Amino acid sequence: MKILAANWKMYLGAAEALQLAGAYRRLAETEPRIEFIVAPSTPWLVPVKDEWRARPKNLFLAAQSGRAEASGAYTGDTSIAQYRGVVDYCLVGHSERRRYHHEQGRIIQDQLAAVFAAGLRPIYCFGEQTGRAVRNVATELIAPLDVEIRDLTTAQLASLVFAYEPAWAIGSGKEAAADYVDTMVRAVRTHLAKRYEVPQATVLYGGSVNDDNSRDLTALPTLDGFLVGGASLHIKSMATIAKGFHTRYS
Ligand code: PGA
Repeated sequence: MKILAANWKMYLGAAEALQLAGAYRRLAETEPRIEFIVAPSTPWLVPVKDEWRARPKNLFLAAQSGRAEASGAYTGDTSIAQYRGVVDYCLVGHSERRRYHHEQGRIIQDQLAAVFAAGLRPIYCFGEQTGRAVRNVATELIAPLDVEIRDLTTAQLASLVFAYEPAWAIGSGKEAAADYVDTMVRAVRTHLAKRYEVPQATVLYGGSVNDDNSRDLTALPTLDGFLVGGASLHIKSMATIAKGFHTRYS
């Protein structure tokens, strides 16, 4: 099943979020062969969940981030444990969290462990954080990934959703070229199979995906889908991206 994950970031007020959530529910109903995962801002998680009371089986809710500590004196933060019973997934390691909140390495390891401890599934975002494309895959892409996932079991890695997101492509309007994404994701897949015995990892691409440029990327058999930011605020764009998968794989 292909996956279309939507990261609404820090956009939308309550009324807009609920309206868009309703539109996603209807889209998921018309595209039953695609799994939709929607990550609204934290205040709208419960209202969106309520709006989806009768949600189709292929529609899921995600948190955008969370603290690894289960509870504590962390004013303004939400722990991953507090999402239990509310969401299905939690994003971990998004490049905007890495950039603005310095989340990396040990912090990500702990967040991944906390997501599994809460009975949720992580969408683990990784990829070069530099402003340029990877030159050395082993040191720039694989080595930091290894540090962050090394405590996970084979079963956990198999249920984790990987999202390859080069920082330079996120929110920049410059999506990575399909052959570049293909090369990076193949390298990661080969590594996950060899080192962790996970031959069929779930891997998405994210970074300026929209309805105009998704066609080439949709054609890549190495990808299981997309993590979409800006364009995910427009249901028409998501419907067009979804249709691309539909016509290609059904
Ligand atoms: P973008 O964001 O599609 O706006 O580049 C992607 C993401 O934040 O995951």
